[in-house]
Amino acid sequence: MVKICCIGAGYVGGPTMAVIALKCPDIEVAVVDISVSRINAWNSDQLPIYEPGLDDVVKQRRGKNLFFSTDVERHVMEADIVFVSVNTPTKTQGLGAGKAADLTYWESAARMIADVSKSDKIVVEKSTVPVKTAEAIEKILTHNSKGINFQILSNPEFLAEGTAIEDLFSPDRVLIGGRETPAGQKAIQALKEVYAHWVPEERIICSNLWSAELSKLAANAFLAQRISSVNAISALCEATGANVTEVAHAVGKDTRIGPKFLNASVGFGGSCFQKDILNLVYICECNGLPEVANYWKQVIKINDYQKSRFVNRVVSSMFNTVSGKKIAILGFAFKKDTGDTRETPAIDVCKGLLGDKARLSIYDPQVSEDQIQRDLSMKKFDWDHPIHLQPQSPTAVKQVGVVWDAYEATKGAHGICILTEWDEFKSLDYKKIYDQMQKPAFVFDGRNVVDAEKLRQIGFIVYSIGKPLDEWLKDMPAVA
Ligand code: UDX
Ligand code: ADP
Repeated sequence: MVKICCIGAGYVGGPTMAVIALKCPDIEVAVVDISVSRINAWNSDQLPIYEPGLDDVVKQRRGKNLFFSTDVERHVMEADIVFVSVNTPTKTQGLGAGKAADLTYWESAARMIADVSKSDKIVVEKSTVPVKTAEAIEKILTHNSKGINFQILSNPEFLAEGTAIEDLFSPDRVLIGGRETPAGQKAIQALKEVYAHWVPEERIICSNLWSAELSKLAANAFLAQRISSVNAISALCEATGANVTEVAHAVGKDTRIGPKFLNASVGFGGSCFQKDILNLVYICECNGLPEVANYWKQVIKINDYQKSRFVNRVVSSMFNTVSGKKIAILGFAFKKDTGDTRETPAIDVCKGLLGDKARLSIYDPQVSEDQIQRDLSMKKFDWDHPIHLQPQSPTAVKQVGVVWDAYEATKGAHGICILTEWDEFKSLDYKKIYDQMQKPAFVFDGRNVVDAEKLRQIGFIVYSIGKPLDEWLKDMPAVA
């Protein structure tokens, strides 16, 4: 029986391994992590991450050919294929701070693999890493190998949160990069056989190591670029009276462009986009390509601009001050159908409003109060360090309340900011909400989920990203 071990039981490692276990009953899969609480959660009824369909897959295979364990060394030693899916935070200090990936966790995982291995292994990069990481890892492994043969593969994950299980069941493509030597090709073939249990052969793409590593960064940069492009247009729509939904629809009808990822929003978030672009920028700079670096930097600048533009719109509409005013925040996760808050635009929007002394009442159906408080008190990039290194009980940010109901959040509020596109925000009883709010009552829809016309009929002043402005808002221009 082939044995697989995955180091890192996070958003990528957990769901990916659960699906491999489901689709390959002949393979034993162990997911290991140094975080005891995370592994305990994977072994309980309350999984550590919320992902539609995940519970079902885990329940079907856990204890049969899917195991979650903190015994990292034993499982690595026994495995034929070791996936590495540990964190790769952005460096906060030293060379490349604020841009380069911090490979501390990767390096310690590689050294541990070299230490405990007694048989040949295929080591698979699963977490997104800078181009040429495989080369560094290969050096660590071969210089400490005691005669054992290690083959390094890059097999980037393209799943998106909220649809992870669907994405894993029928991926657009699986990408496997390896060395162009006979041993490298044999390793590629071995991993290909794992995926071939359920993925059609024509969707499994093989390449050299560097192409695979770069493809992941490039794919995320292209996706983020589409969002920044439509968000840039959304600002122009507001200035001219065009409607960004109509513009995106017309533009996306061109089959060369396509309709996906053209939803204007308060900004993109998530653990990958910003981090991967910063990484790409850093690699370009290191390779003497400042023009290319600046090109990609602009994608992040527009994203930051979109978030501050939103905050400015809120403050300017409410007579240029939100000091002491209650603002309801509906949605905190970086997108719907996930409880993940990594790099969520809600953090920057909330911090911006708090900077103007607003009182916030936050509701998200999947994010806990502890997580929100932690996010609002954490420094930039600190989120990407293992959970056990972060303070367990953050000092609560004064002026922030977290409630478990949208009606409670909006009671007595002056304004509402919708920051995640949860379906339930479309069908709230906005008449009831309006009646319980201060007047004039504002809705700032950062995800274009509400029917603005209906809300205006109730009496709300409504701002929707990239849509023609209410007369009120025209009179109170936001200075970005
Ligand atoms: C992304 C990539 O899609 C995935 O392939 C990669 O493996 C990891 O990074 P993820 O971060 O989970 O996945 O979510 P995604 O659906 O890409 O959304 C990212 C952000 O962009 C979210 O904040 C989302 O709300 C925002 N977004 C997305 C928009 O603002 N507009 C859109 O049209 C699409
Ligand atoms: P991703 O979204 O890429 O899956 P996560 O942060 O959710 O990232 O998961 C990474 C996991 O890797 C964390 O649970 C962390 O505890 C774990 N981890 C980091 N370093 C090691 C290591 N050396 N050995 C085992 N697990 C590790």
